[in-house]
Amino acid sequence: MALSNLSFCVASGEIVGLLGPNGAGKTTCLRCIAGIIRPGSGHIVVGGCDLSIQEREAKRLLAFVPEQPNPYETLTVYEHLRFIALAYDTMEDFDVRAEKLLSRFDLAEKRNELVGTLSKGMRQKLTIACAFIHRAQLFLFDEPLIGLDPRGARELKALIVDAAKSDGAAVLISTHMLDTAQNLCDRIVILRKGEKVADGALADLRDHANARRDATLEDIFLSLTGEEKESAESQSAT
Ligand SMILES: Nc1ncnc2c1ncn2[C@@H]1O[C@H](COP(=O)(O)OP(=O)(O)OP(=O)(O)O)[C@@H](O)[C@H]1O
Ligand SMILES: [Mg+2]
Repeated sequence: MALSNLSFCVASGEIVGLLGPNGAGKTTCLRCIAGIIRPGSGHIVVGGCDLSIQEREAKRLLAFVPEQPNPYETLTVYEHLRFIALAYDTMEDFDVRAEKLLSRFDLAEKRNELVGTLSKGMRQKLTIACAFIHRAQLFLFDEPLIGLDPRGARELKALIVDAAKSDGAAVLISTHMLDTAQNLCDRIVILRKGEKVADGALADLRDHANARRDATLEDIFLSLTGEEKESAESQSAT
């Protein structure tokens, strides 16, 4: 397993950024929490349900948007949203909620098109819309902003804030976009080589890294992951 000794929690109403260099274990961590990979040891608890014991109940509470969404190509956009809402038994006000999501992600005109005909970014938007249609209590996003157009990215960020702050959902989001993480997240967890090297609000991370009071998340990230030192060393070697 690419992760070791990893422990953290995401509270209701909290938006947590999961950061780390390539290969640090972010996707592995999200896939474990989503119940796709079984960790060799340890516990994952979603909304009070232990994933290894109450798998169905735990999975029902979560929505996972993977890095490379893979929606069902033979359904239409509308059928796909409906299928997800039916599967999670959340059909209440479905038509109104579906129309809102379709319009926010510029998919309204595509509602009767087959998913297989959508562009990559449109598939990503549909997968994100599906995550929001079933009123999850825990949202897991793996690099969700890559490939989204500016309006889609803005809508997603607004929906994330709304889900956490109005509906009390817990949100865990992996990203390399440190500006976005700094603005969007209440707390940041930084992984390096499968281990947690920092966990806290920006101010805590500044203390942890002995950084200046105006240090950005990028400064702190590079310092805590050792990437700053390595890149300076490689520059002086050339
Ligand atoms: N399917 C797999 N089989 C074996 N090893 C894997 C698999 N997926 C990932 N790994 C390994 O696990 C480690 C963590 O990978 P992971 O994909 O979780 O990193 P990441 O932090 O998401 O990186 P990135 O920023 O590139 O997306 C890496 O060493 C990787 O090679
Ligand atoms: Mg990844």
